[in-house]
Amino acid sequence: MFNPMHKKGLPIQKQFKNWKTLNTRPYDKESIHPYSRTAGILMNGIECEAAFFMHNFARHTKDMELRGALAMVRRAEQEQQKMINWMIPGNESSLEVTIGYEQVAVDLTAFLAQKEKDPYVKEALDFALLEDFDHLYRYANLMRLTMGKEASDVTKEYTEITVGRPTSKEHRFPEDDVRNFTDKRSADPMSNLHIMTIVAAEQQTMNYYMNIGNRFEDMLARGLYLEIAQIEEQHVTHYESLIDPRMSWFEQWVCHELTECWLYHSLMKNDHEQRSQKVWEQALDMELEHLKIASENMKKHDKKDPEELSGGGFTHMFEFKSNIDYVRNILETQADFGAMGPDFVPGSKIPENYRYFQHQKIVNEGGAPSDEVIDRVIKKDGHDFRQELKPAMAGSVR
Ligand SMILES: [Fe+2]
Ligand SMILES: [Fe+2]
Ligand SMILES: [Fe+2]
Ligand SMILES: [Fe+2]
Repeated sequence: MFNPMHKKGLPIQKQFKNWKTLNTRPYDKESIHPYSRTAGILMNGIECEAAFFMHNFARHTKDMELRGALAMVRRAEQEQQKMINWMIPGNESSLEVTIGYEQVAVDLTAFLAQKEKDPYVKEALDFALLEDFDHLYRYANLMRLTMGKEASDVTKEYTEITVGRPTSKEHRFPEDDVRNFTDKRSADPMSNLHIMTIVAAEQQTMNYYMNIGNRFEDMLARGLYLEIAQIEEQHVTHYESLIDPRMSWFEQWVCHELTECWLYHSLMKNDHEQRSQKVWEQALDMELEHLKIASENMKKHDKKDPEELSGGGFTHMFEFKSNIDYVRNILETQADFGAMGPDFVPGSKIPENYRYFQHQKIVNEGGAPSDEVIDRVIKKDGHDFRQELKPAMAGSVR
């Protein structure tokens, strides 16, 4: 079992690189393995969260030594973020990158749900899984409509593309996205890592759509991005509320570094591209040192042992892989689920006068771009775009 707490990393002063090294050679979008693309998207999100977290932390302490330590580690996180995000080539369009983002959401969420031991956290993962799954379908149809291209050229034969929980039905009253928080003392330490990972991924997706959604000329494309960006806001609310708010800033810092160690350690072993594996291996070397610095600060300020957060090491590795049967199973049983407060409930259990329906009426008045994109594709091609990789199952919602 890999325990990052006892490994030596690259000293922090040696972590800074020159511009040429940071300016990574982009991958070839035709030949890159889809799960290597998704690994880059995920780790970019993880590094963005690391930097934002440490900025926020620095704004909440007057300890000059700690502010200095945060600035050092944060600068290194920012360099990692550039090296990773600059692997995306300029000829990969924003919409193609978007398809990669939703493939991340589907196969990351499905993987975590299958490994998660806390039943409520698993329910939360399954719940949002079907929503990102539907985003993939909507964007794939936008791609068909505006570029005449098939999204499966990006995702290949690993992830299905079809109707999930329809996006227009996902717009809930804001308070119905707030979940119960977990208890770090009773939780399996791996649960914390799962939550940290999915929060960072959803937050990156939210930020990405918030900023690039207006880079399209087509009004329907602009509409679809803003509609789905609002769901990603819901997803960040949904997942971040699972984090135990009783964790101190130092405990959260250690959890962030542990998560980075877990993901890099996993990807350096199982990424499909050798070149990426080397990047992940170097990044792990840096993270081990970040973890040491975070742990020392936790011991000094909290007088607590960071070992309790690692649980002695990682009991399983993360892996991007195909989850077709798992997603189908959740789709069959939970497609119509909604939320009432922190609870997930079948659609038929939500009373007609519930606030969900009032909110739906407000936002979907005059139609939703996510529905319109499908109507437009059907009008043009006679059918929508789908990639169903196995025969349809009996009783399927599709
Ligand atoms: Fe990092
Ligand atoms: Fe999504
Ligand atoms: Fe999402
Ligand atoms: Fe780090």
